[in-house]
Amino acid sequence: MLKTIIAGIGRYVPSNVVTNDDLTKVMDTSDEWIQERTGIKERRYATRYEDTTATMGAEAAKIAVQRAGITVSDVDFIIFATLSPDYFFPGCGVLVQRILGMKEIGALDIRNQCSGFLYGISVADQFIKTGMYKNILLIGSETHSYALDFSTRGRNVSVIFGDGAGAVILQPTNDNNRGILSTHLHSDGNEAEVLSMANPGFHAGKFWNDKKPVQPQQPYGGMFITQDLIDKDDLYPNMDGPLVFKKAVVKFPEVIMEALNKNNLQPSDLTLLIPHQANLRISQFVQHKLKLRDDQVHNNIQKFGNTTAASVPIALCEAWEEGKVKEGDLICLAAFGSGFTWGSALLRW
Ligand code: ACO
Repeated sequence: MLKTIIAGIGRYVPSNVVTNDDLTKVMDTSDEWIQERTGIKERRYATRYEDTTATMGAEAAKIAVQRAGITVSDVDFIIFATLSPDYFFPGCGVLVQRILGMKEIGALDIRNQCSGFLYGISVADQFIKTGMYKNILLIGSETHSYALDFSTRGRNVSVIFGDGAGAVILQPTNDNNRGILSTHLHSDGNEAEVLSMANPGFHAGKFWNDKKPVQPQQPYGGMFITQDLIDKDDLYPNMDGPLVFKKAVVKFPEVIMEALNKNNLQPSDLTLLIPHQANLRISQFVQHKLKLRDDQVHNNIQKFGNTTAASVPIALCEAWEEGKVKEGDLICLAAFGSGFTWGSALLRW
């Protein structure tokens, strides 16, 4: 039976460091409030007209490819996870295929927000285990800073997010002692709107009493983005932070325990947990609940903020670069986010 290993990993973060104090110049917030509630000290913002979700993903991919000891022509499938694609369509997968000059391989885009990378790893694992592909490039990349509300109205959301990308190359192995042990995916759409970016969109106000677009003059079209939305400046993500927090601290431990139980393992067996970097307080809650030591959890939200689909591969890559991830180590990746969607992956490095 084939198993799936991460053969190479890379990350790219833009060079622009934006501190909490920088944000106080454009909105009513403070370094103290942000650090106390989220743990974030600074984040990176993409360079306008230069970095995009696809270009940052391609930069991370180049490093992952090189570290896997292959070339881009060896990659036989692309999976790209993001909530901030360069275009509404086509997706970023084909843009990376073009940027890196790859063959006419398949490219799949995943829209699962914070858990997009986990969904991607699970999809890749199925393709690898069945022998369909031998070198899958999986990317998580985000450019939040181009579309956040930087006025005081949007401060509960905008201080949290950052830009960046991470990528891995997934390959098959016959070595039974290594690779992905199991992946676990979940969703619950009952509260889809509490963490969402509805506008612009094709919903026509169907699920929102307060976002019904003013009926346009023309008989057809005109529902995706209306003058009314522009006039109201209603084109940003929105989040009920306390509700997301309450859900996250239940679902994170649950899905991590699901992976451990499936493999007859305990939290104490974990070498490292890489939780999606949603909020340092959420990670600390999960650590406490599972009784994990500090050295069993890797957090870097302090430096990069929440980079949604990119946060797990960026954190995993950083941990690997720091020598915290070695062959044979038991690693758990876990994420929870908008949808709600959540998932985990347990692997022997
Ligand atoms: N600076 C200063 N004050 C702020 C800011 C800010 N950036 N944002 C909100 N406030 C104010 C609010 O206006 C409110 O003021 P009021 O009491 O006068 O009305 C007060 O702070 C408290 O607001 P809450 O939203 O209740 O603050 P809370 O303590 O819940 O913290 C936060 C907000 C950090 C968003 C928290 O709810 C949270 O982290 N939730 C989890 C959501 C999350 O992690 N999202 C990340 C994306 S989703 C994911 O990846 C899982």
